[in-house]
Parts: sequence; C-alpha cells; structure tokens
Amino acid sequence: MENLFSYEGKRCLFTGCFSGMGEATARIIESLGGTIVAADIKQPTSFSYERYLEVDLRDAGAIEQMVAEVSAAGTIDRLFYCAGLPGTFPTLDVMLVNFVGLKHTVETVAPHMPRDGAIASISSSAGMGYPGQMEAVLPLVTASGHAEGRQWVEEHADEFDAYSFSKMCTIVYTLRRAATLTAETGVRLNCTSPGPTDTPMMPAFEEQAGKKFMAAYPKPIGRNSTAEEQGWPLAFLNSAAASYVSGENFFTDGGGAAGMMTGQLAMDFSLIGKN
Ligand SMILES: NC(=O)c1ccc[n+]([C@@H]2O[C@H](COP(=O)([O-])OP(=O)(O)OC[C@H]3O[C@@H](n4cnc5c(N)ncnc54)[C@H](O)[C@@H]3O)[C@@H](O)[C@H]2O)c1
Repeated sequence: MENLFSYEGKRCLFTGCFSGMGEATARIIESLGGTIVAADIKQPTSFSYERYLEVDLRDAGAIEQMVAEVSAAGTIDRLFYCAGLPGTFPTLDVMLVNFVGLKHTVETVAPHMPRDGAIASISSSAGMGYPGQMEAVLPLVTASGHAEGRQWVEEHADEFDAYSFSKMCTIVYTLRRAATLTAETGVRLNCTSPGPTDTPMMPAFEEQAGKKFMAAYPKPIGRNSTAEEQGWPLAFLNSAAASYVSGENFFTDGGGAAGMMTGQLAMDFSLIGKN
C-alpha cells in the first residue's frame, strides 16, 4: 500500500523554522523524505535544508521577496506557517507576525502551488472564543491586502488583546478562505490550535498570564504538549493522508477546548498573574 504520510518529492516552505514547533515539524518532515526551505528571522540550527532565507514576517515586501525567490527555484508543494509572537511583544508586531503576515504569506504562496498543494498554520486554543467574536474579527480577516490589514490594526490596537485576537483571526480566516481557495486552486488550507506547549515561547506566557494560570490551564492529558506532539498533526494535515481535509481548525490541546466548549472544564481566571 502507498505510504500517504510520505513527503518524498515534496518541497516544503517553513516559516519559524528554527525554534519550537516549527523546528520540530521541519525535523519530522525531513525524516519523512521532504525537502525543507527554511525561513526565519532567527539564524539556522543544524538540520538539513535546501536553503535558508532570513525573513522578517512583519514586512510585506520581505514576504513577497521570500516567495519570489523560493518559487523561482522550484515548486512550493507545502507551506508550514509556524512563526509567531507571544503577547509580551507590541500589539502591532504580534498582529503582523501572527495574522496579517500569515494571511499575506498564504495569499502570496498559494498561486505558486500545484493542485495537490497544502497549507497548515498554527493558531492556538487561545483563539477558541472565535464563534462569539465573528463581528469583531471579520473587518480584519476580510481586509484586502497587507497594507489595509496593517492600517486596521494600527487604528484599532487598543480594542483587543493582541495574542488571542490574532489567533481568532487565523482560525476564522482559515475556515472562510478554505472554501474559496480549495474550490479555485485545489490547495487545502488548515490550521492547528495547540494548548500549552513546552517551547521557547512558554516563559513569555508564564510572564504574561502567571505560572499558576498556565499550570492550571485545562488539559485533560495532565501535562503540557511537546513541540514534536504539535509537529505530527501538522505533518498529517499537509500530507496526502489528509487529501480530503480542508477548512479545519484542529485542536491539538489534549482535550482542553473540547472540555471547555462542552462546559466540563473552565479556565481559572483567579490565577491570572500568580506565580
Ligand atoms: N508554545 C505554546 O504554548 C503555544 C501554544 C499555542 C500556540 N502557539 C503558537 O505556536 C506557534 C509556534 O510557537 P512556538 O511555541 O514554537 O514558539 P517559538 O518562539 O519557539 O517559535 C516562534 C518562531 O517564530 C519566529 N518569528 C518570530 N517573529 C518573527 C518574524 N518577525 N519574522 C520571522 N519569524 C519570526 C521565531 O524566530 C521562531 O522561530 C506560534 O504561532 C505560537 O503562537 C504556541
């Protein structure tokens, strides 16, 4: 039987390739036979990649240059958008990297993909409140282009919590855009929503929300995720094994969101800021 999890012959563009979940996912894809094209603002770590591009995803021109350079050298079969910033950074930076740049990267890469192309990005269980926030997120989600998105963020920056808002925007964009993108081009578009995961980003969450709040964050599995445990679901979503999966927000949070959405579990906001 054909191994549909194989990445043999697949050229995969990664953002956020040299830390946390992005690095873990790239190592998994490499082990499955894929070719890694690595984009990050960080310098490379040691695993094998076709090329490294130093890219600042806050910058629309840098995203366009990255895609032009990578597509000129070959097909882009898969995009893994794994870059992100925690809420300890300025609102504009968080929104640009986590959502406006993500959307611009997806829209710029998709036209270069073959019909069996696939895109997976990382949202967060912090965005799970999106069904009740559609009116708030739609103006940014539907903004036309990077400049309009950036302007909207600059004008409304004091109206939302940047991190969770960026993650709600990612989920809503993924769900809405998959309908048209997949119909028009065949390219599948999905995202994951991890719960607390032990990566270099975790200390920033603990600094912002408090160690006790993060420790008590609902997670029926009883521990934080590892970066590798986030990498495998991303590898699945962008593999041929998921050829009928598009427009999915895949909660990879050990059952936390499911428990909260069904009233079985709740966040303990009394622990916010406690260490
Ligand atoms: N760690 C968690 O608990 C957790 C939980 C849910 C969701 N997430 C999300 O997972 C994704 C990956 O985060 P992580 O935990 O692996 O963190 P990480 O800090 O290890 O990795 C983030 C990556 O993004 C890159 N990056 C940041 N700013 C950039 C910029 N301007 N241009 C280019 N690259 C940039 C960093 O260099 C790094 O490689 C993020 O979107 C994060 O919000 C993390």
